[in-house]
Order: sequence, then structure tokens, then C-alpha cells
Amino acid sequence: MHISTPAPHHPHSILCVVGARPNFMKMAPIMAALDNLEPALKVSLVHTGQHYDVTMNHQYFEALGIPQPDINLEVGSGSHAVQTADVMRRFEPALDVTQPSAVLVVGDVNSTLACALVAAKKGIPVIHVEAGLRSFDRAMPEEINRILTDQISDLLFITERSGRENLLREGIADSRIRFVGNVMIDTLRRNLERAVPVNKILKDAGKKMSVNGHDYAVLTLHRPSNVDDPNILRTLLETILKISTRLPVIFPMHPRTRAMTEKFGLSEMLNVPGLVQLPPMGYLEMLGLMKDARVVLTDSGGIQEETTALGVPCITLRNNTERPITVDEGTNTIAGQDPVKILAAFDEIMRSGGKAGRIPEYWDGQASVRIAAAIHAWLENGLRS
Ligand code: UD1
Repeated sequence: MHISTPAPHHPHSILCVVGARPNFMKMAPIMAALDNLEPALKVSLVHTGQHYDVTMNHQYFEALGIPQPDINLEVGSGSHAVQTADVMRRFEPALDVTQPSAVLVVGDVNSTLACALVAAKKGIPVIHVEAGLRSFDRAMPEEINRILTDQISDLLFITERSGRENLLREGIADSRIRFVGNVMIDTLRRNLERAVPVNKILKDAGKKMSVNGHDYAVLTLHRPSNVDDPNILRTLLETILKISTRLPVIFPMHPRTRAMTEKFGLSEMLNVPGLVQLPPMGYLEMLGLMKDARVVLTDSGGIQEETTALGVPCITLRNNTERPITVDEGTNTIAGQDPVKILAAFDEIMRSGGKAGRIPEYWDGQASVRIAAAIHAWLENGLRS
């Protein structure tokens, strides 16, 4: 007779937090790697509900195989104060129920800071994945979220070496910092073969246009500094229209950007043959759009990294980046909001093909495995770093 012995119960548990779109592709490989640890660790997931639309939310869970959240706080949209405060109020009882050994947060959105703050005040250790990035621009809400989250985190995982210098300068002990690479690139590598071809995306969206090979550009815009000011948004869109006369531009629109374009009366000007508007894309669709593009124009942080990993030229429509390695080693060019600089960067890419770049250290698809191993060692060591 075979008597099965129960699996050894691990005394530790990790509560993971996601809130907004850029969190999902980071959390997917981390949860998978934590699940593979021996002995098993109890891992649960809280979704704050910061992003809630099907296009911004549900289709990512399905495509990336993220487990259904154990708890959804359903906070929705609001001002920074309201959104952050709502997450905090609703996260506290969730912590009381789950009583985890540590809370794991990713990235730099309002949900990241809100949950880290609640945990730290309750004496629950905080793990921050994608720590140490700095744009040195405190007008960016994410920069405030980064600085504050890092200050109250116990274990900090960095994607590039510049992160360590930034953290040390802010007084964070070196013993808390681990250089593990980039979990977003884990997700990218795992899903590259499943990426949806660009012409299928256009066809499924009911567009008549199709593109030849790499002959198209992709545009994403959503930063408040680009889309909340009518003059800045108009100037950026006029610059894009110039580009669209030379190369078709595919533009999946973030809900914030669509709302602002309508509010400022700028929707009409986008109805030109060279520009294709799409709703927000799922992960595999966005990957398909990026991987074959001649150039990607964006104000997203994650897309700067993904284009570097794909070797696709990227023009960043911001005056700074918190991800300097994408410029120093990758394919990224910072062009800001100035039409002259944007068009010059575009010309250069059309002429020369753009920066070749190389894949940064540890952007090798194994970052989440390093993170899980480091968390395991840290727990075994009594949460001492
Ligand atoms: C948030 C993050 C930003 C991240 C971006 C990616 C913060 C401070 N900002 O910005 O770092 O790059 O997500 O998308 O956390 N909306 C919808 N449906 C949704 C979600 C939002 O229509 O599912 C609309 C609402 O009008 C809302 C607006 O988008 O007011 C902004 O949403 P919010 O979550 O506040 O910030 P994002 O601009 O999405």
C-alpha cells in the first residue's frame, strides 16, 4: 500500500500586488517562478482594480496566464490622491486577512506605492521589483512613486546597474539590493513566438489597410505631460502626421489619450490615410506590432525596454528616461516633444536603420528565476538582507 505523505508546508507566504497594465507582464513570470520553488511557498495575488477595462486589464490575464486575483479591490479611476487613498483603505483589510510574510510590488504606478506604504506601516516587509529607476523629473507621478516605494522597501530588485547607484545615493543599504535583470523581458521572450502578425491585427480591427514587411511605424502616447496639454498634444500629433506621409503609422490609443484628443477637438485631424487608430492592444498584439516595425515612437517606459530587447529602433517622446541603458546600450533615442528633434531622429532611422544596440546584461529571460531564488534565500535567512 502506498501512503502519500503531504507536501512539506512552507511557513512563508508572499502577497503579490498588481494594479495597472504595465504591472501585468512583470508579475506573470514572477508568480510562475515563485510557484516553482521547493518547498512550496504560498503565493496570492491582489488586484487593486486601478485598470479595469477589458482592453487594459482582462485580456492581459488571459494572454499571459496570470492566475485570477484572490482579491480585487476595485478602486477604479480618480485623482492621484483619491486613487492612492482608496487603494490604501481597501488594501489594509486584505493584509489583515492574508497576513503574508512579505508584500511584493512591481513598477511605479499608484497601486505600487499605496500597497507598499500600507504594508510598511503594518511592519510587513516589502519587496520591490524594478527598483532604482530614476528620471530625475519629479513632475512625473511615477518618479514620486519610485522614490517613496524604494525608501520603504526591504528587498530591492534592479533591472540595470544604474539602479544601484541611484539607490545608494538615496541612502539605501547595498545589502538590500539585488541586480537580477528585467522580468518584462522574461515575458517578452516567452511569448515572442505567439506574437500576432501586424496584418492580422489590422484585418481583425476591420481596417482596409495592410502593410508591407517592416514598412510601418507604431505610436503610443499616454503620459499626462504629453496628452493633458492641448498645445503639446496638438504639436505632437502634427509631427506624427508629417511622419505618416512617409511611413504608415499604427496608433493604439490609451483611454486617457482618446479622451483628451476628443476633449481638445483633435480627433478630426487624425483621419488621414497614413494613420491607423486602434483600441488599446493586448500583449500578444502589441508584441506583434513592435517586433516588425521600422520604428516605434512612444512615451512608455516599458516599450523603451521592449524595443531594445527586440532590436527595433525607438524614439522616446519625453525629455528624459529612467531607463538609461536603453539609450547607452539599446536602440532608444530621446527626442522629447520638439518636432525638429523628433523628425531628425525619424530621418536618421529611415536613412541608416537606426542604432543597432545590444541586449543589456541579464535581460536574458531568467530574471524571474533569479528573483524567486533570492526571495527564497531571504526568507530562509529570516528576512535579513
Ligand atoms: C497609469 C500609470 C502609469 C502607466 C499607465 C499605463 C500611475 C500614476 N500611472 O497611468 O504609470 O504608465 O497606467 O497605462 O499609476 N482609464 C480607462 N480605463 C481603464 C483605466 C483607465 O478608461 O481601465 C482612463 C480613465 O479615464 C482614467 C485615465 O484612463 O481616469 C487614467 O487612468 P490612471 O490609472 O489614473 O492612469 P494612467 O494614465 O492609465
